[in-house]
Amino acid sequence: MIKLLGISGSLRQGSFNTALLRAAAAVLPTETMLEVRTLRGVPLYDADLEASAGIPPAVAALKESFAAADGVVLATPEYSNSIPGVFKNGIDWLSRPSSDVPRLFAGKRIALLGASPGGFGTILAQNAWLPVLRTLGTRPWFGGKLMVSRAGSAFDDAGALRDPVIGKQLQDFLARFVDFVRSGD
Ligand code: FNR
Repeated sequence: MIKLLGISGSLRQGSFNTALLRAAAAVLPTETMLEVRTLRGVPLYDADLEASAGIPPAVAALKESFAAADGVVLATPEYSNSIPGVFKNGIDWLSRPSSDVPRLFAGKRIALLGASPGGFGTILAQNAWLPVLRTLGTRPWFGGKLMVSRAGSAFDDAGALRDPVIGKQLQDFLARFVDFVRSGD
């Protein structure tokens, strides 16, 4: 069984990015499971907080899911043509203490996708993640791209994916990412 962790970079109840991960859970390849998480409860990184209280419980839980995952899918919104602060803050916390970076990140298979109501579907946010993923020593997957533009019409009001073309793209994207995870290359 391949274990995927999907992290949404949005805290918003009606988030398109969280909705995209939920839709992913419905089109997984066989023998694959996907746990969907958000960054709710993760405080702003503060070295004084870390020194006095250690790793916050929400971060510790996410770290364990991250470490246990065979592959991680980052669903990134795009803010000001880059990574939203909430999402970068969450990954910064996961990289603490730095002695844990190899355990969590070294060689970790990572896929990026994202959804935006605009016309470019998070292309710049996805690019902005690349130096972060490199610095942490991950193994990003470049075999596919999924940028959901005009997300307002791709999902219905309840957050269900209603565009069958995107549904098929999502299914193919996941199948190919899971092949990559399985291959161990
Ligand atoms: C945005 N949004 C946005 N969209 C985009 O495609 N490119 C951008 O540069 C920005 N910039 C931006 C900045 C800020 C501060 C906000 C609040 C929003 C719109 C963004 O894509 C939209 O709010 C999405 O709905 C966010 O993702 P979730 O919350 O739906 O997952």
